Amino acid sequence: MVNEKKIIDSWTTNAANWIEIIDNNGIESRRLITNKAIVDAVCSNKPATALDVGCGEGWLTKELYDKGIEMTGVDVIPELIERAREKAKGDFLVASYEDIVSGKIVFSKLFDTIVINFALIAKESTENLLAALPRYLSPGGKLLIQTLHPFSRKAIDDYKSGWKEGSWDGLGEQFTLPYQWYFCTLEDWLLLLDRSGFHSIKVTEVLHPQSAKPLSVIFECTPH
Ligand SMILES: C[S@@+](CC[C@H](N)C(=O)[O-])C[C@H]1O[C@@H](n2cnc3c(N)ncnc32)[C@H](O)[C@@H]1O
Repeated sequence: MVNEKKIIDSWTTNAANWIEIIDNNGIESRRLITNKAIVDAVCSNKPATALDVGCGEGWLTKELYDKGIEMTGVDVIPELIERAREKAKGDFLVASYEDIVSGKIVFSKLFDTIVINFALIAKESTENLLAALPRYLSPGGKLLIQTLHPFSRKAIDDYKSGWKEGSWDGLGEQFTLPYQWYFCTLEDWLLLLDRSGFHSIKVTEVLHPQSAKPLSVIFECTPH
């Protein structure tokens, strides 16, 4: 739980930096491919409604709203939600994953899609959140998660699930308070999704368009 608090403290401290870098399209992998990959993956299912969990400053919520999807966004950082409300039309809630799990916040409808884009960082809150999500999906609804490609840690000979040192490398010195994050191998991701009540797990690898370096994976699955 100490790590979970540090993660939220860091996002609170870096919210303005994050808004600036996203507004300026300043992260290369996102610009090149990962943004489009998650938008296309969500849209391929033609949902009428979607919930963007850990929505940050709302870029994805906006993209999906612009494609005609009725959007709800949730994030624990008030400054990010404030920016999301300026940017996108939709329902926005300041809430943590723990609030979703405990029922402290309640959604007024079920969603055709729940999307989580690079926002599962800790261990316990991720496990609890994923187990709680099936109840918020409409029949036939899908969960889509984009996360760092697990194989990126093979390149540094550290392919073992566990807490890892984090950094803001490449994003600029204005970012402070790097935090530890919980890494899952590909096998552990699949086990976690299965344990959380999801099946038919489709895995899409997102590769750098020139170097073919693995950048992210998108898991797409439905509740049992
Ligand atoms: C890397 S950002 C991704 C934001 C957005 N999904 C995107 O694609 O730009 C991670 C987000 O997860 C949110 N987050 C992390 N832990 C959270 C928690 N326990 N409850 C709610 N939001 C959380 C952070 O506030 C941050 O906005």
